[in-house]
Amino acid sequence: MATEFTTDITEAVVDSFAGTADPRLRELLGALTRHLHAFARETRPTTGEWERAIDFLTETGHMCTDARQEFILLSDVLGVSMLVEALNGHRDPGATESTVLGPFHMTESPVRELGATIDLVGTGEPCVVSGRVLSRDGTPLPGAALDVWQADGEGFYDVQRPDVQPPGNGRGLFTTDTEGRFRFRTCVPSPYPIPTDGPVGALLRATGRHPYRPAHIHFIASAEGHAPVTTHLFVAGSPYLGSDAVFAVRKSLVQDFAETDDPSLAREFGVANPFRHARFELVLEPA
Ligand code: BEZ
Ligand code: FE
Repeated sequence: MATEFTTDITEAVVDSFAGTADPRLRELLGALTRHLHAFARETRPTTGEWERAIDFLTETGHMCTDARQEFILLSDVLGVSMLVEALNGHRDPGATESTVLGPFHMTESPVRELGATIDLVGTGEPCVVSGRVLSRDGTPLPGAALDVWQADGEGFYDVQRPDVQPPGNGRGLFTTDTEGRFRFRTCVPSPYPIPTDGPVGALLRATGRHPYRPAHIHFIASAEGHAPVTTHLFVAGSPYLGSDAVFAVRKSLVQDFAETDDPSLAREFGVANPFRHARFELVLEPA
């Protein structure tokens, strides 16, 4: 705590946190104070503008419910979620790149058998997604857990349209087989807009930004002795790959959902031939 009068309000506030027992909390509060004050000095907000900013954050809080997380959305459109992910992500370039979790991983995915469909309503073009979960040295990881979730063919998650989609639609929790393999059926995902009926939507409109995300499927892969990865599989050729509203696209995660004419593979997957097929390998770093 500052003991003498100081005209430097920034240092006075930083000093006021000097007694914080947790050193990391002290560091975070000090840096937050310095950066916020630098922002105010640089932009010189009027009191009306500052009130508007506080109103915006208040509206963001009021928009949050068990089924809606507007603060995550704000962090996403400001690119902070992806930046924090990148700063904490795996350094090993051979491991699968991570991306944002997003706000729709809010219900538990139903446990499903390998090969099952996660598309319970059939709103889109059928496809198969298959691949393996591997350790960094290429060893397959049997018994790995793969949590998968996606929007339906019209671009909505089950929680957004409970009147149209049964709970668990577009979601599945799979376990890899003895060779680390997984496969499931679904529909080819579509691009969709992030929710725009709250303050984050107003921010996008005020700044002329579009709200769309390129077509994708979310994955969390975890296996014993390995660091889990939260990632996406993006559909090659999808609109918005170059302008994702939440800045989460990584080139290494874009895969073809290729038209496949292979009757025996179609039989193995239990789908009509020809079919759309995406392959995806998830590589985990040993913990
Ligand atoms: C999603 O992909 O589910 C998502 C991610 C960030 C913001 C909104 C939606
Ligand atoms: Fe999504």
